[in-house]
Amino acid sequence: MVAQLALKSDDLRDEVKRAMASQKRPTITVLSSLLAIQDHVGYLPNEAIEEVASAMDQTVNAVFGVASFYPNFRFTPPGKHSVEICWGPTCHINGAPMILEETLKTLGIASEGETNDNEYSFRFNTCLGACSQAPVVSIDHELYGKTSPDEVNKLLNEVQNNPATH
Ligand code: FES
Repeated sequence: MVAQLALKSDDLRDEVKRAMASQKRPTITVLSSLLAIQDHVGYLPNEAIEEVASAMDQTVNAVFGVASFYPNFRFTPPGKHSVEICWGPTCHINGAPMILEETLKTLGIASEGETNDNEYSFRFNTCLGACSQAPVVSIDHELYGKTSPDEVNKLLNEVQNNPATH
């Protein structure tokens, strides 16, 4: 993903075009283009919807209809760091609620979303795929198992001054 958070519209449009051109599959569709852009830019800015519409000979409304149908597409820039707490059953019974409470307090948010300074994006995850290590959190796509509220706080402090890895 490019460091796109402060890109101007023209630069963002260039990144969108670059992402669309990087698709390797023989069949390029509206959906494949939107996926490529989100992977590359981190979200779907208005420029993405417009460029896909133009390239695929569709209306902006039609492309937005596809994008808004899938909940994994986002239309605002993600935070600099990603934080996910596993909310699956194994993590839940092994302490995820306490980690959640402490993490939300530390980030100063009430639920999923971005912090006011856009440093963090926080999400729930239904299973991070490491149930034997429950409770599990993911920070900047690194998994941390058998964790605790204090440890997550420590990890959040550590990443705060590091460049984003996603
Ligand atoms: S339930 Fe948490 S990693 Fe699977």
